Amino acid sequence: MKRKKIIIGNWKMYNGPEQGHIFLHKLEEKLNNKKINCDFAIAAPFVTLPYIMPHDHGTNKGIEIDLCAQNFHYQNEGAFTGEISLAMLEQLGVRYGIVGHSERRQYFNETNKTVNLKLKAALNSSIIPVMAFGETLEEFEKNQTDDVILKQLTEGLKEINKTQIERIIFAYEPIWAIGTGKTATPKQAQKTIKKTREIIANIYDQKTAEKVRIQYGGSVKVENIKELMEQKDIDGALVGGASVDPDSFFKLITYDQN
Ligand code: PGA
Repeated sequence: MKRKKIIIGNWKMYNGPEQGHIFLHKLEEKLNNKKINCDFAIAAPFVTLPYIMPHDHGTNKGIEIDLCAQNFHYQNEGAFTGEISLAMLEQLGVRYGIVGHSERRQYFNETNKTVNLKLKAALNSSIIPVMAFGETLEEFEKNQTDDVILKQLTEGLKEINKTQIERIIFAYEPIWAIGTGKTATPKQAQKTIKKTREIIANIYDQKTAEKVRIQYGGSVKVENIKELMEQKDIDGALVGGASVDPDSFFKLITYDQN
């Protein structure tokens, strides 16, 4: 079955409202009249999200940048200083939300348990969750990748049923490739993403596994995106560093047209 590619730029803690506004302007100029064949979105810092909403539909010719949150809380509201709920993101028209990014797991106590809570909350909202997972360098070198992702997926997807899982977008991001300039080779990425599909087929079934989209993330850039996207099981990319600049982001989302 044909799965539409999806490319999401993850700005992390880069591009505040001012830079976001400039980015939007430049990207809209490039997008004008251009046909983009993949789905694409930007995961901007919360404060920047309102500034990258397409502001002039008249000149934008119907191309809209989908918004993505980098994180969210699983409760609807409450005394959680510094947190943002899905209901708040819905008010802004946000379409996607990243769950379990390795930097959140590493620095902000995100665990398979909180990933699970967040996935369930998102599946009860209109936000499409993007579930990130992947192994550390040490685990990779010890050949533990398959076991690590099995655990992350099994625990993260606990009590999520077959119809729900089809809404989740998966993002395999080997931690050793994030922000390091060290990309997994297309073959390596394909191998683990194929394995991911097998794990999903085991938990659910083959048909469901064939439907879900699985991205690769970790030092994706203009120079290597095409080869990665040509792999049979890779359905898109989660891009950090190479997404903060509008020229580079535009080249990423038009990788198939050059
Ligand atoms: P990178 O980040 O492209 O800068 O390696 C990817 C990510 O963290 O999603």
